Amino acid sequence: MPDRYAVIGNPVAHSKSPEIHAAFANQTGQDMVYERIRGSDDRFEHQVREFLTHGGRGLNVTVPFKERACQLATELSDRAKDAGAVNTLIVTREGELRGDNSDGIGLLRDLSRNHHITLTGSRILLLGAGGASRGVMRHLLDQGPELLVIANRTVDKARLLARQLATPAKVEGCGLADLAGQTFDLIVNGTSAGLNGGIPDIPRNILTPGGSTYDMMYADKPTDFVRWGKSQGARNALDGLGMLVEQAAESFYLWRGVRPFTQPVIAMLRAPTE
Ligand code: ATR
Repeated sequence: MPDRYAVIGNPVAHSKSPEIHAAFANQTGQDMVYERIRGSDDRFEHQVREFLTHGGRGLNVTVPFKERACQLATELSDRAKDAGAVNTLIVTREGELRGDNSDGIGLLRDLSRNHHITLTGSRILLLGAGGASRGVMRHLLDQGPELLVIANRTVDKARLLARQLATPAKVEGCGLADLAGQTFDLIVNGTSAGLNGGIPDIPRNILTPGGSTYDMMYADKPTDFVRWGKSQGARNALDGLGMLVEQAAESFYLWRGVRPFTQPVIAMLRAPTE
């Protein structure tokens, strides 16, 4: 019988994870199936245990259950602890439920390997102070930027996050309006503003000429933040499709010990559907 995996979240109907993992399994010859589970607010923990009891070897966890998955895991990786959120659950050989988080490495690999964007010595702006930002900020800092600014609509949350990051690097937390007059080489959108069709209310002219923008969200057509990036003259105005595939590849590696090629899968998902 093939090993079972799944993504659990709500909504989950449009998740591309089953397609991505099927492509990885095909490419690497792994005998596995990957399903979709619509998570329930009342029964999330029960649903996870039930899946594992019935032969599940691992799960991807998505909105809004990443924090609950963190509580459910019996052991946590450092990156899951840092993010306070789990997007990958793994049944270990010893039968423990290990929680990990591959979002940060997913963003980093997309930026550096797929788009050749150098973060060392750069000025980075991270918009938003919720789960998406928490999942990636440590990875951005590990690249040795000159400065990381976390800006949020609710200023206190950004300040708190910046303070919590124990790092010798220069990190600041501020409000969106405080960004006026500053410039950044890379602007990453970790807010959920795009869900309601919009972008955070940020000043114009804060992107360095030749700088890049990155929306951690992905949609079939350019997101509002991608369009904003283009309007600001970004060298790269990227969406989160590459991050989605790269975080999936890391989860796949955690489960199967095999690293799939990501480029063909990104290209497959990018191809226009008839
Ligand atoms: P997630 O886990 O997806 O990051 P979250 O924890 O609810 O979700 O965080 C959403 C983030 O998007 C927050 O930083 C939120 O700002 P507030 O802390 O002020 O609520 C930000 N956000 C959502 N809608 C926004 C909007 N229209 N403009 C600016 N920021 C927005």
